[in-house]
Amino acid sequence: MIFRECGLEKKKKTTVPCVAGMKAKGEKIVMLTAYDYPFGAIADAAGVDVILVGDSLGTVVQGNKNTIPVTMDNMIYHASLVSRAAQTALLVFDMPFMSYQESVEQARRNAGRALKEAGAEAVKLEGGANMAGTIGAIVKIDIPVMGHIGLTPQSIHRIGGYKVQGREEAQRAKLLEDARAVEDAGAFALVLELIPAEVASEITALVGIPTIGIGSGPGCDGQVLVMHDLLGIYPETKLRFVKQYANLYEQSRRAIEEYCKDVRSKSFPETRHSFFRDEKK
Ligand code: KIV
Repeated sequence: MIFRECGLEKKKKTTVPCVAGMKAKGEKIVMLTAYDYPFGAIADAAGVDVILVGDSLGTVVQGNKNTIPVTMDNMIYHASLVSRAAQTALLVFDMPFMSYQESVEQARRNAGRALKEAGAEAVKLEGGANMAGTIGAIVKIDIPVMGHIGLTPQSIHRIGGYKVQGREEAQRAKLLEDARAVEDAGAFALVLELIPAEVASEITALVGIPTIGIGSGPGCDGQVLVMHDLLGIYPETKLRFVKQYANLYEQSRRAIEEYCKDVRSKSFPETRHSFFRDEKK
């Protein structure tokens, strides 16, 4: 067994330089979201390289219709649960809406909280050239930043829906400009969300930092999925860019229906599930 610093067959903690170096080695980066200790521990044991505590928390955990309501305190709480589980994966904290847009000072203060209070090792924020100054200011105080361009869910009201970004030439050119600006500002990796595959490949070839795609084709340096989509926790979500590897909704529902039936029919608990006064301790 080969024990490499990071990437395939790793046993050691994945670090920011590891992730940055995986692009040069041609190793795909595997990123997955998690929001609590048990699923963080499962992702870590399964060997993902990066766990993202995404602000998708707002939709898949809190039940909101978008990520706008998520607060810094919500994120700190959930990321601190995941940080206890992330033994080998790099832990990235997604900065929620209005935790970094007001000012560079606000962005730095909140990025600092992510590391100090939640145990995160890097932060992610949405935006391209418009956020370059903010990314640079956070990087300058030694907090690693992951960028995020394309479909940026915190801009949902401007965009008007969860739409593919970059089909038109002007949008494509803007994405290339944004990717370069994020790299120049010092980000160590870049999420590309819902970008046509050819454009995502072009960005991947253009920048020196790794790109991590979601709904952006196979040409990115890595891939990210939302845990709840991968595991099939919601029966109604069938997104083209998701590969569902399990059907936890069906399995969980069937298990709980069986439990209801057993309690109502008095077949659970049985004697073997009970304690008695005169048995040996
Ligand atoms: O919040 C999130 O889960 C994300 C990923 C989809 C990249 O930003």
